[in-house]
Amino acid sequence: MNEPKIDTTKPHTARIYDYYLGGKDNFEPDRRTAERAAQSWPAVRTAVRENRAFLGRAVRFLVAEAGIRQFLDIGTGLPSANNVHEVAQGLVPSCRVVYVDNDPIVLAHARALLTSSPEGKTAYIHADLREPEKILADPVTTATLDFTQPIALMLVAVLHFVPDEAQPRHIMDTLVGALPSGSYLVGSHVTAEHDPDTLAGAGRAYQERGLTGQIRTSDEFAELAFRGLEMVDPGLTLVSEWRLGGAGPRPLPWEVNAYGGVARKP
Ligand SMILES: C[S@@+](CC[C@H](N)C(=O)[O-])C[C@H]1O[C@@H](n2cnc3c(N)ncnc32)[C@H](O)[C@@H]1O
Repeated sequence: MNEPKIDTTKPHTARIYDYYLGGKDNFEPDRRTAERAAQSWPAVRTAVRENRAFLGRAVRFLVAEAGIRQFLDIGTGLPSANNVHEVAQGLVPSCRVVYVDNDPIVLAHARALLTSSPEGKTAYIHADLREPEKILADPVTTATLDFTQPIALMLVAVLHFVPDEAQPRHIMDTLVGALPSGSYLVGSHVTAEHDPDTLAGAGRAYQERGLTGQIRTSDEFAELAFRGLEMVDPGLTLVSEWRLGGAGPRPLPWEVNAYGGVARKP
């Protein structure tokens, strides 16, 4: 396969997220869009950090408490601290992870995601969440994951890039339908109800630069992602509140503006 070309003239969500996390794999249009969105949502970096921490806590819960050993992580993002396999294999080295993203720059950096423990396995597919059948049928997916055993599907901070026109209901039904009973879904999503104006402004900064998406309320997100599944305690919460260990000051709801949860397929 020819490597898809990295376009540095337009902003990309993976690189904007990398910029917010303090990474170096971003370019001028990404930084400009990020700063424009931050003018409307000044606490966006806090939200991004809290989302990333939620992802880590969810993986830890799944491996340590739910017995999950396989992960399908769609919308992986650029390699950062605490990638799924690092957290999972840090607890149980035999964990297996398939990473999926549609951004060429993530593909270019995928080597950093393929540093599996010898006992486990990690793999990467350049593919699009909007084509779930392709992800499921990819030989890399079927060679890495055993679909007769529980799998955790990770859709962390990615569904808000799938507008309703892209049939997110079909995407969810296809992906969750392919998982055996006892599997889990981890999801998080930017949500509008705590500060609609801030979110609308940040959304405009993305849209004006050609990035599509849809901001939903937490109820809309719950219905889209978790319908028919059993929510794990404490249910759908602000990402900053989900299974938090210890005390300490917490950001406010209108700073975080993102909900997350974990659910089990009955
Ligand atoms: C905000 S980052 C989230 C990264 C990681 N999941 C996390 O929460 O730390 C969103 C990622 O989803 C990817 N993405 C967006 N739309 C996608 C699609 N339709 N198919 C696959 N990946 C997509 C972007 O390229 C980006 O890497």
